[in-house]
Formats: sequence, C-alpha cells, structure tokens
Amino acid sequence: QSALPEGYKLRALRPTDYDTGFLDCLRVLTTVGDISKEQFQDRYDWISRQDGGYFILVIEDTNSSPSRVVGTGALLVERKFIHNLGSVGHIEDIAIAKDQQGKKLGLRMIQALDFIAEKTGCYKTILDCSEANEGFYVKCGFKRAGLEMAHYY
Ligand code: ACO
Repeated sequence: QSALPEGYKLRALRPTDYDTGFLDCLRVLTTVGDISKEQFQDRYDWISRQDGGYFILVIEDTNSSPSRVVGTGALLVERKFIHNLGSVGHIEDIAIAKDQQGKKLGLRMIQALDFIAEKTGCYKTILDCSEANEGFYVKCGFKRAGLEMAHYY
C-alpha cells in the first residue's frame, strides 16, 4: 500500500467526528439529513456493537486548521453459512470531499477497506456503483459482476 499525501491520516471513525466534517463529506454522495449529536452518537454506538462486522474509516486532513475529515468509506462483513462459513465484504458509502478528489484518496480508502476484508477472512468484496464510477473501481482492482436489484420502501 502506498502512502497518503503529507498530513493526511487514515483512521477509524470516532464519536468526535460529528464536529470534524464527516457528515458534510457524506453529503457529496447523497442526502444525509439533519442529524443531531445525540442521534449521531446512538448510531455510532450501534455500529460499534457489531463486533468486527462493521467498519467506518475516515481520511483526516491535518494540514487544515481545524483538521477536517475529507474522505470516508465503510465495510460490512457478512458472515455466511455457505462456502464453509465464508465471509463476504460489502463496501459502502465511499465519499471524498469535492475539493479533495483526484489525489488518490478514494483509491487509498478502497485499499484500506480491502485490507480489512482480507484480514477478517472475506473470500471476496462486492459493491454497487453507478456506470460513472466504474472506471474508478476498475482502477481499484474490481471488475463488473452481476446486476443490482433494488426494492425501495
Ligand atoms: N471514472 C473513471 N476513473 C476515475 C473516476 C471515475 N469516475 N474517478 C477517479 N478515477 C480514477 C482516477 O483518475 C485515478 O486514476 P489514475 O490512477 O490513473 O490517476 C484513480 O481512479 C484513483 O482516483 P482517486 O484520486 O483515488 O479518486 P478520488 O479520490 O477522486 O475518489 C470517488 C473517487 C470516490 C468516486 C470520488 O470522486 C467521490 O467521492 N465521488 C462522489 C461520491 C461517489 O460517487 N462515491 C462512490 C459511490 S459508490 C459506493 O459508495 C460503493
């Protein structure tokens, strides 16, 4: 794995990231809504209880003051019965702040999540993306497989 730019740090999400721009970072991906500090903490606590099943990473830019979260990504580890109790990684909610795109932060985020997936014993990692992002994931080592179906409520 190669390095991040000088002053950028990749780490696990923390409860204090309510105030470091994590939610704003996610807003480049989709609607986030108005989330209170208490709601953020509740969801953070729930995720923490998933015990090796749910990881959220962030990239922090410590060059800016105050330092801010400029990238995020999540990995869910699904434990199965099939494939001899195999596990599958699911990459979700990858977002790099608009003014930070093109610096390989997205690539580093995927590499870090892939590393966790492999270490936790996943035999593959899958994700859904738009056609517009296919090239990015191909550069990250993924290939087109299957077809997504959705049922919205
Ligand atoms: N299409 C084709 N190639 C791309 C694209 C793209 N949309 N985006 C980046 N690349 C290429 C880069 O040119 C680079 O190639 P190179 O190694 O030849 O120079 C390589 O992919 C790595 O690019 P990064 O600099 O790491 O990309 P970036 O940090 O900008 O992150 C990302 C890419 C995550 C798609 C970012 O643009 C983003 O956050 N977009 C908005 C939110 C979004 O769409 N997220 C993904 C949703 S899918 C999901 O979450 C599972």
